Amino acid sequence: MNRPDTIQPAAGRLGVLMPGMGAVATTFIAGVEAVKADLGKPIGSLTQMGTIRLGKRTENRSPLIKEFVPLAGLDQLVFGGWDVFEDDVYTAASHAGVLEQKTLDAMKDTLSAIKPMKAVFDKNYVRRLEGSWVKEAATKWDLAAMAREDIRTFKADNGCDRLVMIWCGSTEIFLQAEEVHATVEAFEQGLKDNHEAIAPSMIYAYAALMEGVSYLNGAPNLTVDLPAIIQLAEDRGLPIMGKDFKTGQTLMKTILAPGLKARQLGLSGWFSTNILGNRDGEILDDPDSFKTKEESKLGVLEHILQPELNPDLYGDIYHKVRINYYPPRGDEKEGWDNIDIFGWLGYPMQIKVNFLCRDSILAAPLVLDLVLLGDLAQRAGWKGVQEWLSFYFKSPQTAPELYPEHDIFIQMMKLKNTLRFLMGEDLITHLGQEYYD
Ligand SMILES: NC(=O)c1ccc[n+]([C@@H]2O[C@H](COP(=O)([O-])OP(=O)(O)OC[C@H]3O[C@@H](n4cnc5c(N)ncnc54)[C@H](O)[C@@H]3O)[C@@H](O)[C@H]2O)c1
Repeated sequence: MNRPDTIQPAAGRLGVLMPGMGAVATTFIAGVEAVKADLGKPIGSLTQMGTIRLGKRTENRSPLIKEFVPLAGLDQLVFGGWDVFEDDVYTAASHAGVLEQKTLDAMKDTLSAIKPMKAVFDKNYVRRLEGSWVKEAATKWDLAAMAREDIRTFKADNGCDRLVMIWCGSTEIFLQAEEVHATVEAFEQGLKDNHEAIAPSMIYAYAALMEGVSYLNGAPNLTVDLPAIIQLAEDRGLPIMGKDFKTGQTLMKTILAPGLKARQLGLSGWFSTNILGNRDGEILDDPDSFKTKEESKLGVLEHILQPELNPDLYGDIYHKVRINYYPPRGDEKEGWDNIDIFGWLGYPMQIKVNFLCRDSILAAPLVLDLVLLGDLAQRAGWKGVQEWLSFYFKSPQTAPELYPEHDIFIQMMKLKNTLRFLMGEDLITHLGQEYYD
C-alpha cells in the first residue's frame, strides 16, 4: 500500500449495506441514531472516542482520530441491508432485546423506515434458520444479478455517493476453499452451475465488488478468504477485510495472552466456555456453524504465544472453546475462562475470568469503525486485503505468506501507524532516544 497523493474527500452520503439485520446490525444502526440524538455516547469506537499521538511526546499533539483523518460523519451515513425476515429495524431491534425499549421508541420513526431487502439465502448453509423473505432464482448467478440490482437501486434511491458492505449475518457452515474459488472465472462459472461450495455470503461479496463496493466480513465465514474474491477486489481497486468481529472472550484472550507472554509466564491450558441465548447462539448450536466459529477462535493463542519459539513455555497447551446455547440469557452472554499458567521453576497458578458481557454492545462500535475506516481506505485508493484493520477481527486476513497478528496492542500500533503514514506524519516507534541526547 502506497501513500496516496490525494484522498478523495468524505463528501456526500455513505451508504452502509448489511447482509443480516439482526442483533448486531440493529444495535449498530439504533446506536448511531441514538448518538446523533444525544441519547448516548459511541463508547467502544476508536474512530469516535480515540485520540492519536503525533510527533514527540513534548509536542502535546493528540487529536481525536476523527479529526485527524478525513472520515465520514455519523450524519452522512445511510443504512440498508437484507434479511430473511421482513421486520423493519425498529421491530428487529425490539426482538433482539439489546437496547432498552424506551431508547428504541425515541427513534421509532427513523428505525421503522429502514426495511430489509429480500435475502440471498439458502438454509443448507445456516441450518437453524428459517426465513420467508428470500429471493428466488434458478441459479446463483441470477441471485448475484438480483443483489447487484438491489445495490444500484439503494444507491440511487438514497442519493449515496459511496457504499460499504459489512456482513452482519449469521455464521454459515464450515466450508473450505476449492477449485471453484481459485479464479474469478471459475467462481463465475460456479455461480452459473449452482456450485455447492458457493455460499450466500460469497454471492453478496461478489455482487458488492462488481458494483464498486468494498466488503467487510463480521462473521467467521470463508467469504473473502478466497483467491477469486481477493483477485476481484484487486482488479476492482476495492478494500476487503475479515473475519469475525473480535468481541467478548476472544477480545479478553488477545488482551491477556500478550501480557503473559511479555512476562515469560508459561501456559499449560486455557478452557473457555460461554452461555448465550440470542439467535447467534441458536445458530452456533448447529455443529457445522460452530465449527466455523471454533476455527476462528482457536488460532488466537498459537499466533500470540508462538510455541515454536518458546517450547518451554508454550509447547504443550490444551486450548478448548465451548459455546452453549442457553435461551434465558439472551444477548447478555456469560463467558468463563480457566487459565492454567506456570511461573518460576514451573510452579502452577490459575487465573479465572468471568466476563458478563453484552455481545452486540461490544460489536456495534466495531461495525461503525470498520465502515468508516473501510470507506477511508476506499477513498485512499487502497485495494485488496487491509491487514491494518486486524484490530477488529478474531481471525484477521493477511497476505498468503504471512501469519496473522493477533496481539491487540500490536494491532492497535499498526492501525495508528497506518493512519499516521496515510496523513504523512512520522511513525511512532517508541524508541525515545532523542529525549535523552
Ligand atoms: N459480539 C458479537 O455479537 C459478534 C462477534 C463476532 C461475530 N459475530 C457474528 O456476527 C453475526 C451477527 O450476529 P448477531 O448477534 O447479529 O446474529 P443475529 O442472528 O441476531 O443476526 C443475524 C441476522 O442475519 C440474518 N441472515 C442470515 N443469513 C442471511 C443471509 N444469507 N442474508 C441476509 N440475512 C441473513 C438472520 O436472519 C439474522 O437476522 C453472526 O455471524 C455472529 O457470529 C457477532
